[in-house]
Amino acid sequence: MHDLNNQSQTQVLRDSFGRVVNNLRISVTDRCNFRCRYCMPEEGMVWLDKSELLNYEEIVRLAHIFADLGVTKVRLTGGEPLMRKDLYLLVEKIARIGEITDLALTTNGFFLAEQASSLFKAGLRRINISLDSLDAAKFKLMTRRDYYEKVWQGIEAVESLGIRPIKLNVVLIRGVNDDEIPKFAQLARMKSYVVRFIEFMPIGSDDGWTIEQVVPSSEVIRTMERAVGKKLIPLEYHGSQPADRYRFEDGPGEIGFISSVSEPFCDHCNRVRITSDGKLRTCLFSIDETDLKSLLRSGAPDEDIKASIVNAVWKKEEGHLINRPGFVRPSRTMSQIGG
Ligand code: 5AD
Ligand code: SF4
Repeated sequence: MHDLNNQSQTQVLRDSFGRVVNNLRISVTDRCNFRCRYCMPEEGMVWLDKSELLNYEEIVRLAHIFADLGVTKVRLTGGEPLMRKDLYLLVEKIARIGEITDLALTTNGFFLAEQASSLFKAGLRRINISLDSLDAAKFKLMTRRDYYEKVWQGIEAVESLGIRPIKLNVVLIRGVNDDEIPKFAQLARMKSYVVRFIEFMPIGSDDGWTIEQVVPSSEVIRTMERAVGKKLIPLEYHGSQPADRYRFEDGPGEIGFISSVSEPFCDHCNRVRITSDGKLRTCLFSIDETDLKSLLRSGAPDEDIKASIVNAVWKKEEGHLINRPGFVRPSRTMSQIGG
């Protein structure tokens, strides 16, 4: 017998350039207890009112709808997602959605010492932690918070639970933390961490971004090989994954690169994002957004929400225009979009 439900489950989200979207990033809050210089100003951030944020029921409903549309990967982001202290309740519900086979979290690590165990019990198995420096003073300079030790307590909590891989995200800024490339290389060689270097991107209102501050991945690889005296061995390339991955010939860890500026991966981009106030963004650099929250709160049926998502994804941008004449900075900061 023909089953309408099955039919909807085999649907895929496709854009007008032939890319299939199966990866959804959900921001659960715009708030953060850090003030990373590349992300937000020290003072003057205006936070959304709690009532503006999607509640867990609304997020879970959207997750189901996206799963029906072929999404298999979900990442929870912020702001700092663990500012929502009961995030494990959301994790539990999303982890139960059969089609979603990969559920991950991006966090600054501050609250992991307290929350890692309940997140793990709720079904979270993949965590990325931001760690821009291996020096407490530099860490403080970059994040404007003296929380280096606290973040390491978080990393250790995750490690002791056996969550693997542990990915450490490093935003490299020339003249600020690029002198630490060799130290990060040693960390990846000695420990089983995946260290991922993220190119500094022009996003947010005024972070003083210039192209000169971007350290291209090719340069990082040369610096690492010189410092360690060993070749980096490229790992298998995964079509849609932005990080180019490498390992050392003599260590357990791994190095990844997210070269969004020097080698954009837009051609393979398979992701969309939902902001914490329920707007669908089809690109980090989107100018337009689709207001899913209004649909949710006006009592729209699933089919209408689906139609709106299908429509928005079809119009997904071809790619970003960083360093080209047409480039327009999104007015939201990374914390307001969900990194
Ligand atoms: N450029 C690159 N990465 C950024 N992030 C925040 N702002 C920027 C930027 N301007 C990253 C953080 C974190 C993730 C949430 O987004 O380092 O890893
Ligand atoms: Fe917070 Fe992440 Fe922005 Fe840093 S980069 S201020 S940790 S949201």
